[in-house]
Amino acid sequence: MTATLLLLHLLGATIWTGGHLVLAFTILPRVLKGRDVASLHWFEQGYEKLGMPALLVQIVTGLWLAWQKVPSLSLWFDLDAGPIAHLIRIKLLLLLLTALVAAHARFRVIPRLSPATLPLMGWHIAAVTLLSVAFVATGLSFRVSWGM
Ligand code: HEM
Repeated sequence: MTATLLLLHLLGATIWTGGHLVLAFTILPRVLKGRDVASLHWFEQGYEKLGMPALLVQIVTGLWLAWQKVPSLSLWFDLDAGPIAHLIRIKLLLLLLTALVAAHARFRVIPRLSPATLPLMGWHIAAVTLLSVAFVATGLSFRVSWGM
């Protein structure tokens, strides 16, 4: 069961983090340079169909894996419960920040997307991309220490 959960979690991570890295490093620079709102809409609409289910899979499998490691909600939020609970709290914080930035982009920025608001959208994309990489780094930290 754990192997299946991990497989789904890793597949979701490739889609969520990989998709945002492609967006941030290949699509966004071209969109900003050409002030090409239509191309950004085109990518967002296509990616959303895969990206949103992937994030949902991350949340469900992530919470499940976290419960397997620390099966107590009160321990998740107990600052003295040790390093694994600490990593779970970091994941939850990253999730909260991602939800806030993504919701702001989806409901405030995207509906008014224009060449003038493209840079603002760029900052939102950069923030969600950084958070997505932080998700992966934190996930890895359950298994490996960073030698610090
Ligand atoms: C987009 C969001 C997320 C991404 C990209 C992501 C990515 C990853 C990655 C790459 C790993 C490493 C797996 C391994 O060591 O083989 C991992 C592990 C883990 N993640 Fe996430 N994760 C996300 C969201 C979450 C959430 C919301 C939770 C819930 C608290 C969570 C909980 C965990 C746990 C408990 C592990 C350790 C699994 C294990 O080693 O058995 N993740 N994650």
